[in-house]
Amino acid sequence: MTTIEETALVALLDMPSLLIEADKVVFANRAATALLGAHIVGQDVRLALRQPDAMALINARDGGHAKVKGISVSGSLWDMACHVLSGGRRLVLLQDLSIQASVARAHADFVANASHELRTPLAAILGYVETLEDAKAGDDPATRARFLGIIRREAQRMQSLVEDLMSLSRIEAVKHDRPETVIDLAALVREAAGETQASITLEMKTAAPNVAVQGDRGQIAQVLRNLIDNAVKYGDPTKPVSVILEATPDTGWASVSVHDEGEGIAPEHLPRLTERFYRADASRSRAVGGTGLGLSIVKHIIERHRGFFDISSRVGEGTTASIMLPTVQG
Ligand SMILES: Nc1ncnc2c1ncn2[C@@H]1O[C@H](COP(=O)(O)OP(=O)(O)OP(=O)(O)O)[C@@H](O)[C@H]1O
Ligand SMILES: [Mg+2]
Repeated sequence: MTTIEETALVALLDMPSLLIEADKVVFANRAATALLGAHIVGQDVRLALRQPDAMALINARDGGHAKVKGISVSGSLWDMACHVLSGGRRLVLLQDLSIQASVARAHADFVANASHELRTPLAAILGYVETLEDAKAGDDPATRARFLGIIRREAQRMQSLVEDLMSLSRIEAVKHDRPETVIDLAALVREAAGETQASITLEMKTAAPNVAVQGDRGQIAQVLRNLIDNAVKYGDPTKPVSVILEATPDTGWASVSVHDEGEGIAPEHLPRLTERFYRADASRSRAVGGTGLGLSIVKHIIERHRGFFDISSRVGEGTTASIMLPTVQG
């Protein structure tokens, strides 16, 4: 017989937990019924769990631990513990490992993507160096200049990728500390718009000349650079990019929108653009030197500043990328 103390203790546990006696589920705590349904109490444990590895563990004489897959939700991963209690009853505890497993998978994917992105320009550099070492190509000044140009471009690509990777890891390291210094967003927008060679129309919809936000100057400048860089790279070169700063003191928010009249982005890509290395049109982005890290850097920085990032686009019409940041009384 299950004791009152046993069930009272199991009821207190946060993890899905079951008491089993003579192959029947005699008690399931709230987390277990949320996972497997309230009907499992009184049911044969084989029916309740429907998982052969889990059954093997429950039937093992001394209990133990095992990793079991697909309990309740297919693709889920659990650490299952089975403890033998007095009278042959068993206490089964389930710990969800799915999140850890998906973090580990994302990490492995990230390393694989980063290595692949570095290997591609590296292979080109080594190939052209080898060709230049061959007297026939190396001695011709025109060929030599052309190949050196390619080597320089590919090396710069590697450099900017390494800088972006370092920048991502720096941002990740501080993502929980909100910056405390007060900066002027209006000044940063003017600077960022002035830095680029491309034609930009700047619109400042603000009552005061300054827009005070709590922020990391370098990081917000990086966000603006990345958004303007995208609008210039993927926009229509014959049309200006517009940058609009809007701030009304009573809302407590300021926004910066960067708009281009380029080809736009198909709707299915929009939700994934802030994933690392995600490119809507990989061959086109690669041709303009993009590695797909810019918007994931933007997303992380804006989250750290307790703001919002949004990108909207219409194919054939253009794209608008916007950030919103909380303002402070300047
Ligand atoms: N203004 C835009 N117009 C059209 N497509 C865009 C625009 N901005 C971003 N994209 C698409 O979103 C993808 C991701 O953008 P992101 O800035 O993260 O990477 P990237 O520009 O390719 O590379 P990086 O910024 O790292 O140099 C781009 O590859 C491009 O396909
Ligand atoms: Mg970019």
